[in-house]
Amino acid sequence: MWWRRRSLRFRLTATATAVLALALAVSAYVFVVVLGESLIRNIDDQVYQRGREIVALSDAGRLPDPVTSVNNTIVQVLGPDGRIVDATSDTDRLVPLLPARARESAARTGAPQFVNGRPYALPGPLRVRVLSADHGVTVIVARSFTEVESSLVTTGHVLLVGMPLLLALLAAASWLVIGRTLRPITLLRRGAAAVGGTARSRRLPVPEARDEVHALATTLNDMLGRLEEAEARQRALVSDAAHELRSPLASIRLQLEVALSHPEGQDWTETAEGVLEDTLRLSRLAEDLLALARLDEGRLSRREPVDLGVLARRTAERYDLGLDLDLDLGSDPGSGLGSGLGSDLGSDAAPGPAPVVLGDELDLRRVLTNLVDNALRHAASAVRLGVRTGGAAGAGVAELTVTDDGPGIPPEDRERVFDRFTRLDDARSRDDGGAGLGLAIVRTTVEAHGGTVHLEDASPGLRAVVRLPLAR
Ligand SMILES: Nc1ncnc2c1ncn2[C@@H]1O[C@H](COP(=O)(O)OP(=O)(O)OP(=O)(O)O)[C@@H](O)[C@H]1O
Ligand SMILES: [Mg+2]
Repeated sequence: MWWRRRSLRFRLTATATAVLALALAVSAYVFVVVLGESLIRNIDDQVYQRGREIVALSDAGRLPDPVTSVNNTIVQVLGPDGRIVDATSDTDRLVPLLPARARESAARTGAPQFVNGRPYALPGPLRVRVLSADHGVTVIVARSFTEVESSLVTTGHVLLVGMPLLLALLAAASWLVIGRTLRPITLLRRGAAAVGGTARSRRLPVPEARDEVHALATTLNDMLGRLEEAEARQRALVSDAAHELRSPLASIRLQLEVALSHPEGQDWTETAEGVLEDTLRLSRLAEDLLALARLDEGRLSRREPVDLGVLARRTAERYDLGLDLDLDLGSDPGSGLGSGLGSDLGSDAAPGPAPVVLGDELDLRRVLTNLVDNALRHAASAVRLGVRTGGAAGAGVAELTVTDDGPGIPPEDRERVFDRFTRLDDARSRDDGGAGLGLAIVRTTVEAHGGTVHLEDASPGLRAVVRLPLAR
């Protein structure tokens, strides 16, 4: 708990330092052990070497008295009776370094061993080896272990002081480096705190290094950009909506004012009809805005199987339109316009996979009616509905088309008309009561269902193509 509340910088530094301390301690230990072993082996070699020489000299009967000391080795040569017959000059000539029993077993195994030198007035521990020579002579060779001990102690001291120093140095370095690494994040945080506050720019500082923080900053900036756009769109929508609300309200007010200023001889029925028409426009607008607001939340109120074929047939019957139910892979559903509104009604359904999609039936019906309303408004003679599955749309896709033979829309405007409150023929649409939300609702709905919608040339006329994934 305490640890979790520390700063990231502290935790990283502490972890790195702890791991490092462990590694250093282990390596120091290994180093001292290896060093000690090799030093001991070195002494053992020297002792053995000297022992071999003494044995050779004794066997040849050419042993000097006292024995010369090579490499600070101590030598005691014992006769068969166990008394010292020869030794190095500064060595006790009365007491052997090992008692008789120990001498015997040491000579048999040939293993070097430690002997405390203090009882023999020698400093520190000794490394002792026993060899047998001819005529019952025993040679004891020893060498002080003090130098090795002191060099090991010194090494230990150096490590004991050096390691913590090194560790402190590395900890400080990690602290600094981690601080530097985290600085862009601090800057990012400050930038984020300033966004929406006093700062004019709504962007976070992007560090120069092409690292993770850079990627994070760019991603966040993209997000801020999108949020800004969404906000701007929202503002535009509100002002457009207010604008759209104003004209029917003004019209209602004008009609009522005129009627009230000359109440005598006023045709109140006519006034009421005019006011009703504007009221209907207002309520349609309110409904469209509500639908958009709900769709903007990105959730479908329902996901149930909806048969586009049934939906299209019902709509065709209601509006008295031409209908192609082409549910086989094959011919173009939009081909061939009806000879007039209402011809070809209910042309029979060919067999094929049912054009069933998952979604909200009310929403999908609104898609169809919005498209049909547009087509009817612009058509010269006929409007046709088409539904098919497979084919050019691809497998697993249902395609719904609404085709008219009107003036069409120039290619450069075919995307723009999907924007909210976009009308191409402003004056005429206003008379028909259109606010320019129809296609926007269509697109938002279709996309919420995981589909696509676009407009294409039907020469003559326009075809709206809606593609939706089939229900599995
Ligand atoms: N079938 C069509 N042929 C020619 N132009 C069309 C067709 N459908 C739409 N448009 C153009 O696209 C514009 C936008 O259409 P949209 O359906 O979004 O709005 P609207 O029909 O004007 O208003 P609303 O649908 O809100 O009543 C229309 O104003 C019209 O100019
Ligand atoms: Mg419309």
